Amino acid sequence: MIGKKIIKFESLDSTSDYLNQLHNKLEDGTLCLAFEQTKGRGRRENIWVSPKGNLYFSFIKKQVFNREDIFHETIRVSISIVELLEKYDVKAMIKYPNDILASNKKIAGILIETKGLKNVEETIVGIGININQKDFHNLNNKATSLAILKEQEYEIEEFLNEFIQIYNRIDDMLSAYNEYIQKSLIIGKDLVYKGENYKIESVLPNGDIVIKNENNNINIRSNEIDFRHLYSE
Ligand code: BTN
Repeated sequence: MIGKKIIKFESLDSTSDYLNQLHNKLEDGTLCLAFEQTKGRGRRENIWVSPKGNLYFSFIKKQVFNREDIFHETIRVSISIVELLEKYDVKAMIKYPNDILASNKKIAGILIETKGLKNVEETIVGIGININQKDFHNLNNKATSLAILKEQEYEIEEFLNEFIQIYNRIDDMLSAYNEYIQKSLIIGKDLVYKGENYKIESVLPNGDIVIKNENNNINIRSNEIDFRHLYSE
């Protein structure tokens, strides 16, 4: 259960960094919201530009689980965001592993960070959802927001509360996984792997990808392929 305790800031460097710094003192499920971030971080050391108007939040989970199961969190968060956007009448899809797209442009990003070695002991999930931003400057052909798609503005905290409710309601991993697969853009894409042509058949619950051609059916780990190339067709 997340969001029983919410810590709010008008402006903060990064909601994920905040939870990271205080992690020892925080209760399981504590959520941090900032209306703007001055040092927002994305995956692969990218900057997450975070002006006022969008939703930026992170939460900490303290359940211990096997590192093999880390993709379950990606599944749960991704489908929560998709369901949330659907509630606002926006059709969203998942760009594997965990970008959320609407009208083929990025509308939300997820950053999942963990502590612990064999087992994950703590997980910090950071989420950015583009809500009221109308201009993404040099990224206008790659990014979009709810305001652009629906031509109206939204209340950030209402949006967050809806997310919390949806996320907390998800308790069945199998149906969450099925929904993730249904909303996944990667299924059916062509891929060249070790010099051979394949089609992507599926994503497994552990995040591995199943690829297939006339001769082979193989599982590959997500870090073995370059997704940017895959989606730029
Ligand atoms: C990505 O797509 O690269 C992930 C972006 C994650 C951005 C969110 S905004 C709230 C939280 N705080 C951060 O500094 N990053 C995440």
